[in-house]
Amino acid sequence: MAEFVYRSVILFVLVFLILQSSGSHGQMLPAIFVFGDSFVDVGNNNYLPLSLAKANFPHNGIDFPSRKATGRFSNGKNIVDLLAEKVGLPSPPPYLSIDSDSSTSYLWGVSFASGGAAIFNTTSNPLNTQSIPLWQQVEYYLKVHDHLTKQLGSAHAQKHLSKSLFFIVIGSNDILAYSRSINQNIPPKKYVNQMTTLLKAKLKILHTHGARKFMVVGLPPVGCCPAQRIQNETRGCREDTNTWTVMYNEALESMSKELKSELKDMSYSYSHTYPLIHGFIQDPASNGFKEVKTACCGLGNLNAQFPCLPTSTHCSNRTDHLFWDLYHPTEAASRRFIDNVFDGPPQYTSPVNVRQLIAL
Ligand SMILES: *[C@@H]1O[C@H](CO)[C@@H](O)[C@H](O)[C@H]1NC(C)=O
Ligand SMILES: *[C@@H]1O[C@H](CO)[C@@H](O)[C@H](O)[C@H]1NC(C)=O
Ligand SMILES: *[C@@H]1O[C@H](CO)[C@@H](O)[C@H](O)[C@H]1NC(C)=O
Repeated sequence: MAEFVYRSVILFVLVFLILQSSGSHGQMLPAIFVFGDSFVDVGNNNYLPLSLAKANFPHNGIDFPSRKATGRFSNGKNIVDLLAEKVGLPSPPPYLSIDSDSSTSYLWGVSFASGGAAIFNTTSNPLNTQSIPLWQQVEYYLKVHDHLTKQLGSAHAQKHLSKSLFFIVIGSNDILAYSRSINQNIPPKKYVNQMTTLLKAKLKILHTHGARKFMVVGLPPVGCCPAQRIQNETRGCREDTNTWTVMYNEALESMSKELKSELKDMSYSYSHTYPLIHGFIQDPASNGFKEVKTACCGLGNLNAQFPCLPTSTHCSNRTDHLFWDLYHPTEAASRRFIDNVFDGPPQYTSPVNVRQLIAL
């Protein structure tokens, strides 16, 4: 009993402090909730016994503060960590790592993202027997929403969530599946529209459950990742994949606009990832890179015939490479991305940058 009272007092004080401080002292917003794929997985897949999309072994994490692999597909931090750093929050923990009974842990946000996750149920990486698909990530969020509502009370929870950031990074695995000829009986335009229609329905569910500020991240030039370049004899980008990626990005930006016009109290910042990363590829030197084609960690052509495994080789200088492994950026590239969309010039974010979105 005493312990229960003690814990309740601690919880009350914590919640009080968090509600008082959000937005004023250091931290710019109360919480970040992350939905997406391996670009933003912070370790959920470590908890999926059958998943092959894992990064909880070396050389991943070689430049992480702990120097250990955490499940992030990176040499160091990923874009979630770097965004959290910018706003003064701890990096949102993996949802599957949290014991929901004991927890104040949802208060600063949580990541539902999972390597291999896709918008479509069927196009999660076929090699990947297990990941948390988008629909499941949204179901998990509904549980967190319930938990916060019980913990803070309905009005406070609503206020807390309305100032929080909902970070959405998904779609690459659906495009990669299409590039492996999965669903190519569907014309590309129709395929990308189905993607955004499904995503829109999910964002509406989040909105019904408190979400008001969305950071919607467009896809990078997927056809330029090392895994796609080795499918081109000249090692150029796979142009068909890039064409579908651009189509998807256009559909994604339009969908975000539509959503805002339908839900008046919702705001978003759309990141123009494609032109930003394409700029790095076209002019590596002025963006601080030396190598934008070959993965730092892997084996074979462009280090992209095998993933980054403990037996793979890795480059000595991770700050001059765009790609860490056959699909994912280095921490250095992720940092440049976040810097550009957080405070960035209007050509990389619309209608507002992330700092402006947070301040709304
Ligand atoms: C995906 O699978 C879930 C669970 O089986 C189901 O509820 C949902 O309707 C499916 N979504 C689509 C788009 O097929
Ligand atoms: C392969 O790369 C070259 C540039 O090096 C490009 O012109 C060509 O269209 C690419 N081929 C395919 C199939 O994407
Ligand atoms: C690594 O690359 C960066 C960017 O090109 C360069 O500034 C730095 O000096 C390099 N570090 C080492 C140890 O070579």
